Amino acid sequence: MATPAIEAAVASIMGSSIINSNCPAGPAIFSVEVFGAVLTCVSEAFVILGTLCFNRRHSMPDSLIEHEARYCAQNYAPLPVMVVRGADCYVWDRDGRRYLDMMSAYSAVSHGHCHPRLVRALTEQASKLAVVSRAVYSDKLGPFLERACSLTHMDRALPMNSGAEAVETALKAARKWAYAVKGVPSGQAEIIACEGNFHGRTLGVLSLSTEPQYREGFGPFMAGCKAVPYGNADALASAITPNTAAFIVEPIQGEAGIRLPPPRYLEACAELCRKHRVLLIADEIQSGLGRTGKLLACEHESVQPDCLVLGKSLGGGLLPISLFLASAAVMDVFRPGDHGSTFGGNPLAAAVGLAALETLIDERLIERSAESGAYLLGGLQRINSPLIREIRGRGLWIGVDFDAAHVSARRIAERLLARGILAKETHGTVLRFAPPLTITREQIDWALGQWTDVLREAENELTRI
Ligand SMILES: Cc1ncc(COP(=O)(O)O)c(C=O)c1O
Repeated sequence: MATPAIEAAVASIMGSSIINSNCPAGPAIFSVEVFGAVLTCVSEAFVILGTLCFNRRHSMPDSLIEHEARYCAQNYAPLPVMVVRGADCYVWDRDGRRYLDMMSAYSAVSHGHCHPRLVRALTEQASKLAVVSRAVYSDKLGPFLERACSLTHMDRALPMNSGAEAVETALKAARKWAYAVKGVPSGQAEIIACEGNFHGRTLGVLSLSTEPQYREGFGPFMAGCKAVPYGNADALASAITPNTAAFIVEPIQGEAGIRLPPPRYLEACAELCRKHRVLLIADEIQSGLGRTGKLLACEHESVQPDCLVLGKSLGGGLLPISLFLASAAVMDVFRPGDHGSTFGGNPLAAAVGLAALETLIDERLIERSAESGAYLLGGLQRINSPLIREIRGRGLWIGVDFDAAHVSARRIAERLLARGILAKETHGTVLRFAPPLTITREQIDWALGQWTDVLREAENELTRI
């Protein structure tokens, strides 16, 4: 709130009529008054500025963290850093401290933060037309979906927003296809997923989860869901029945700790699905769009799934954009009114999504992921430590599995943070590295240096205990 001194000073700037109305004593008196008021105002401004600077350097970051903690649901355990700006592979905190982002918002920022071409696509479209709903046609949606379909060899795409929504869409499509096309008796359709899967947090999707914490307290769940061990094609073969509509799989399990299946697993699953007329749904929300060094992780085994789910980096690190893609035979089970989303496929999202796909190709981000990923993985594997059980990954998607008896992955993440690197743990023991695909060799070399120091520190701590 403005103090009287500030009001008076503002009035002096704005004109004498205001002053005159407040100062009936005449020009000589009010000029002295105004001078005094300006002085008071300037000194008050200095106090305010000083307080702001102090808060900025001292109490404010903490109080803003407390603010978020006070008003936001406590469903995350963030690292103790408040980030205010990002550019390419770096983010900055309120004090101007720079961090190399090696998690890129769980792979949503594969293009790097605030990529200029994507920001341009966003702002140009935002100033023209942003949201119309699918009640009308837009000039942006067709080109975006055409590009997504041609890149992934799919016939049609259904646009949604978050990844979980797109997975829900896949499950609905699979069930409807099973009844309408495969001839599964009404209400009997089954979906098979893998143990340790992560496909999102909505109730339908959680019905596939085998993670106790994600399910506890949220039941009852959707019927007709089964889980088989990941990486075991024989287990899938045994689980398939005439009522099986679909098998949904992550080509590499991300949330579970960057778990790679044995070679030729996907190929064997695809073969089984073909044989039993079961839809193979690849959830490439995290593994897709170059993260593993191929456009799709399925390509490592030359597998073309029947259905595909994309999200995260499809939004170019700017917007939530997801797609369910499928063959015409599957997608055409949807009729107007069967399924939808107010925001799905809006012109703003379509413009950004198209720019994200084009940038991926034009800037060779997929190839860069393969090259930089191999370099980072090699570098990490060369650094021996008794704290580490395994280092695994593909492309720029790497998990370091720590021995829980010695150290927690969270502790390592905090040590890296103190040295200017953002990385996040999953399931207590695994530290995930998923930097923007634009990361350079110099940045990787610097990160490997910090990594070595952090490991040595943690080892020393261990020997002191
Ligand atoms: C493989 C996979 N599927 C689905 C999701 C859910 O995506 P969203 O958080 O956008 O709903 C995720 C998120 O991490 C994921 O990794």
